[in-house]
Amino acid sequence: MTVNTKPFFTYQEFSAAAEYVRSQTAHQPTIGLILGSGLSPLADEIEQADHVPYANVPNFPVSGVVGHAGKLVIGKLAGKTVLAMQGRTHFYEGYSMQHITLPVRVMKLLGIETLIVTNAAGGTNPDFKAGDLMLIKDHLNMVGFAGSNPLCGPNIEEFGPRFPSMTQAYTRDLLKVARRVAQAQGLTLHEGVYAALAGPTFETPAELRYLRMVGADAVGMSTVPEVIVANHAGMRVLGISSITNATIQDYESEEITTHEEVLETGKIIVPKLMALLRGVLAEM
Ligand code: HPA
Repeated sequence: MTVNTKPFFTYQEFSAAAEYVRSQTAHQPTIGLILGSGLSPLADEIEQADHVPYANVPNFPVSGVVGHAGKLVIGKLAGKTVLAMQGRTHFYEGYSMQHITLPVRVMKLLGIETLIVTNAAGGTNPDFKAGDLMLIKDHLNMVGFAGSNPLCGPNIEEFGPRFPSMTQAYTRDLLKVARRVAQAQGLTLHEGVYAALAGPTFETPAELRYLRMVGADAVGMSTVPEVIVANHAGMRVLGISSITNATIQDYESEEITTHEEVLETGKIIVPKLMALLRGVLAEM
């Protein structure tokens, strides 16, 4: 597969993608949902669904990663009209930061003001185990520290300001809703800081020890660019990590982290995450 990308997109290019999506559905979604590795089955529960393959949308990035389907599913879930991304593209696939986050701006242009992001993540917090869920209360943009931020390049004022705040990147009211729903369901929902790395390599023990030291509870290869672009555009954001594996920080360990493990545990978490999402959507 060839990767066709470019560093920056114009307002007209974002608009062309939004126009196409609008032409493919009569629904008017108000909530966007991004489904991470192994979590695609969640979109199968959307009713009265219209399906829009990414490959048909002008300028959309298309994923080649196993476990990531590539289409928009637009319809009803828990009484709300949602637009779900069944699968996402990643920076490590060779797409630019603006390209992988293009779908979030398309959501904004479609009138979506709330974004729910999910991902598969490794737990760096020793209290977390595979199969747990973590509410993202803040993030460490490690890729940004290294110089790649989706807002680099000409600022598009129609979306937001040159220097957006990230002090409340995860909307406080939505954190409260998620906590309340989890409690009502008797579901253990951890809270913590998600560190985003570029991947595709999993982390070395030294990297994991470093991340733990600087305050990361979970680590993954996505989400943060999307959350930045959503905040820039003034959208409300809720983020949930599926902890698919404990990370191996011990040099004596015989275990290694694999993508298969991530996908397998992802499948097991789906019903729990679905119940939480349904509860949250119902309360929004
Ligand atoms: N590291 C990085 N990304 C991940 C992991 C991990 O351990 N698990 C799932 N995504």
